[in-house]
Amino acid sequence: MALLRFPRLIPALLLAVALAGCAAAPARPGLYEQFGGQAGVEALVEEFLVRLLEDERINAQFAEVDLPNLNDRLVEQFCVELGGPCTYTGRSMAESHAGLAITEADFNALVEALLDAMQARGIPRAAQNALLARLAPMHRDIVSPRASR
Ligand code: HEM
Repeated sequence: MALLRFPRLIPALLLAVALAGCAAAPARPGLYEQFGGQAGVEALVEEFLVRLLEDERINAQFAEVDLPNLNDRLVEQFCVELGGPCTYTGRSMAESHAGLAITEADFNALVEALLDAMQARGIPRAAQNALLARLAPMHRDIVSPRASR
């Protein structure tokens, strides 16, 4: 059980799953501001990508990726999920992750990088959990059911 190696992820993930049913609802008021607005989201995505690319469990999967595009799409996506005044112009999660054979462990590693980045940015814990709760339902479109590595 990969999660047992990352015990500090368990409360955040349990909360994220518990709240996942609310994901279609608008983000709670003030969430985007708690992340520092546009400048805060841009800084968070930068921190997040640095951690992702340093993580030897998953960085090979980003070797051929157009990183400036990924950066910009993540900024848009996080902004939208946080209730900010943005439009997501990228592909769907199903389309952009199809055929990548992404495993549960890959997904958990990425969540860990995001948690570390949010912690480094000083985002309040409840606000961190609110973003995770909005990303959690994307799991079904990203993790490949038969992937095992
Ligand atoms: C909640 C989790 C995730 C979110 C929110 C997310 C978000 C995104 C976004 C917004 C894009 C850009 C789509 C576009 O270019 O139109 C993308 C692309 C990509 N993601 Fe994810 N992702 C997640 C999980 C993962 C995981 C776990 C991996 C692998 C370890 C991964 C690998 C990739 C790769 C390789 C691309 C580029 C695909 C391409 O350019 O063809 N993603 N992701």
